[in-house]
Amino acid sequence: MVDTTLVRKAMSELAYQDQNPMELYYPEIAEITKVNQFTELEKWYEITLPNGRDLGHQPGQFVQVSLFGVGEAPISITSSPTKKSAFELCVRNVGMLTDKLHLLDVGSNLGIRGPFGKGFNIDAFRGKDVLIVGGGIGIVPLRSLINYIIDNRQEFGRLIICYGAKSPKELLFADELKLWESDPEIEYHVTVDNIIPEWKGHVGVITTLFPNIELDLENTIAAVVGPPIMYKFVLMALKTKQLPDENIYLSLERRMKCGVGKCGHCQINQSYVCQEGPVYHYPDIKNLPEAI
Ligand SMILES: Cc1cc2nc3c(=O)[nH]c(=O)nc-3n(C[C@H](O)[C@H](O)[C@H](O)COP(=O)(O)OP(=O)(O)OC[C@H]3O[C@@H](n4cnc5c(N)ncnc54)[C@H](O)[C@@H]3O)c2cc1C
Ligand code: FES
Repeated sequence: MVDTTLVRKAMSELAYQDQNPMELYYPEIAEITKVNQFTELEKWYEITLPNGRDLGHQPGQFVQVSLFGVGEAPISITSSPTKKSAFELCVRNVGMLTDKLHLLDVGSNLGIRGPFGKGFNIDAFRGKDVLIVGGGIGIVPLRSLINYIIDNRQEFGRLIICYGAKSPKELLFADELKLWESDPEIEYHVTVDNIIPEWKGHVGVITTLFPNIELDLENTIAAVVGPPIMYKFVLMALKTKQLPDENIYLSLERRMKCGVGKCGHCQINQSYVCQEGPVYHYPDIKNLPEAI
């Protein structure tokens, strides 16, 4: 019997190599063209490829960022594909590579491979109401989808954004959040776990936002990204609201090395997250042990 997962994987590798014979393993030298310190731990970067080449990504895809002599790490692309001349990353300083990356400023070079992986299936969202559920740094890849929708507003229905962070000072993209809040075309809901005196908004985990949101169940597609603990509760809450599993897409994070389906570091059973993910259609992984 033919193992269709392996056949699909081999075909997608061949298709990728066909399109990008050199780019699979060799990083392209890119330049940091803007930097902004968002929070104590997170910095935002605008990255420009040689000659302002378009990265050509889909929302939800990632790049492998390398610093020579240090290492390489997968980082989600946070800008919309509608931004062509440069792309954006938002990086949390957690270790070796990200610590060194945080020391770099405008004009510094870094290596970029990608874009890699499967992003959100935009066609499935087109014409539908879109429910975005982002926890913590999960808002980083979701912002690419949000800005794509904002830039192509007429192609989508309602845009409902639920964003949760541990505390107000950990909210990312602060300037943009104000725009989302004031935009009559966006239903923006934000919550934090721990408050400070100045915080006048909602307090509680992200699922506490759901009871106040009415969904057109047949016409709503959800995009969910957040820390592993969040998925269990968000999926339960969406089930309670009776949103069909077929209407849910989510992104998984696993340790990665090659990013292109060769090393097996990211493997969950037969699925290579770097190739078949990081964004999955929920029905495809809901029965995969250890996926969620
Ligand atoms: C598809 C994908 C997209 C990602 N997008 C982003 C992004 O947009 N922004 C961002 O800041 N980070 C993102 N990450 C996580 C990022 O890749 C890691 O934080 C990074 O690899 C850490 O590298 P380091 O050398 O700085 O840390 P290390 O020195 O390697 O490790 C520091 C600590 O973090 C732990 N750690 C490292 N990587 C991971 C991981 N993937 N999962 C769990 N624990 C880990 C280590 O065990 C160690 O405790 C993404 C990861 C994946 C797989
Ligand atoms: S990271 Fe090497 S196979 Fe996925």
